[in-house]
Amino acid sequence: MTSGPDRIAEAKAILRDNDRGGYCVPTAGLYPFQWNWDSLFAALGWVQFDTERAWTEIKTLFAAQWPSGMVPHIVFWEDAPSYFPGADVWRTDAESPATSGISQPPVAATIVRHLTEIDQLPPKSLYEAIERWHRWWHQARDPQGLGVIAVSHPWESGRDNLPDWDHPLSCVAPTLNGDYVRRDLDHVDAVMRPHKSDYDRYLALIDYGASTGWNDTEIAARSPFFVADPCVTAVLLRAERDLIWLGEALGADTSHTRQRLERLESGFEQFWNESAGTYCSLDLRTGRHAEAGTSASFLAPYAGIDQHTEQLLEQLQSWSQACRFLVPSFDPRHADFEPLRYWRGPVWCMVNYMIASGLADIGAHDWAERIQGDTAKLITSVGMPESFDPIAGTPVGGLRFTWTAALWLAWAGK
Ligand code: DGY
Repeated sequence: MTSGPDRIAEAKAILRDNDRGGYCVPTAGLYPFQWNWDSLFAALGWVQFDTERAWTEIKTLFAAQWPSGMVPHIVFWEDAPSYFPGADVWRTDAESPATSGISQPPVAATIVRHLTEIDQLPPKSLYEAIERWHRWWHQARDPQGLGVIAVSHPWESGRDNLPDWDHPLSCVAPTLNGDYVRRDLDHVDAVMRPHKSDYDRYLALIDYGASTGWNDTEIAARSPFFVADPCVTAVLLRAERDLIWLGEALGADTSHTRQRLERLESGFEQFWNESAGTYCSLDLRTGRHAEAGTSASFLAPYAGIDQHTEQLLEQLQSWSQACRFLVPSFDPRHADFEPLRYWRGPVWCMVNYMIASGLADIGAHDWAERIQGDTAKLITSVGMPESFDPIAGTPVGGLRFTWTAALWLAWAGK
């Protein structure tokens, strides 16, 4: 698939228009701050035409790293009334800048490796900052050393309203009694967004985290929501490998990274759900697997995990018969699949990018090309929204979206 010059120009214009000076917002209005993995994927786009700006995107994010090593999922560099919940709801200690109290899938090491291969090695201080972030994931979100990484809030997974969270969230008691005004529905049709019952619980979990002073030990021991996530774990697995590569290039001691990597490699099998025939999230409070696969199930090859490759490819084949465009965020054969509702069905191009990279790594080139081709077709026909309906191919969520533009430049349009 060759990219028309118009789409390249459009993608660059989206990055420039979403640039707030050192970082990109995901899209104007709906998400008016710096988001963690959005910014890191933005760097993949920037590096195609402005290398220095790509590094700046990452450095700006890491400027908000907490002393614990946590890199927050939102950095509130400036006030914006178009978003709820803002810094006043999160009530973290972080003041300059204010941030949220949770993180997001750690794609930094993988993206920094990519930038290094195009440009040059990062400063050792950035490598060390990423190392601290990885260590934080293990200490804070896997304190028992199980080898699977938990999320303490659906937003920490980056996949907010996945059906996987429905049961774990049902154990979270709402605390704000609906006494708040959502701002997301000012920007996007309600049919594409989480339900009010989800928001009640998202806010209750923020309230809970704030009540502990965002204390990681307390959260891991007692948060009503603590679910091991195959997406965060696969992304971290891949990132640990890439961090070792960076560490070796910088002459650093990578022995701790290797130990963490080995723990994740042996832990990943805990996500395997024999009755679903795929990798599923695992509720650490109940020991219960989610009952169906998500797009993250196909990230195992990206993570370098090859125990169930044949079964995964069979699943992908079956999914491909249930929708027109790969890869829907949730199993399109399941009753909870909703092609328009955020993470309950739509196709997300940065997930497609990671899945296709992993499939190419294991030599499944036909599938990697199919996924890249589907992503290119979607963008070519409807532009660069937040995500896409896997059946109709129509845009879903916010428009003129940073990571979709970045991934067009870096991958789908190539
Ligand atoms: C939102 O507000 O919808 C975000 O996804 C939270 O990170």
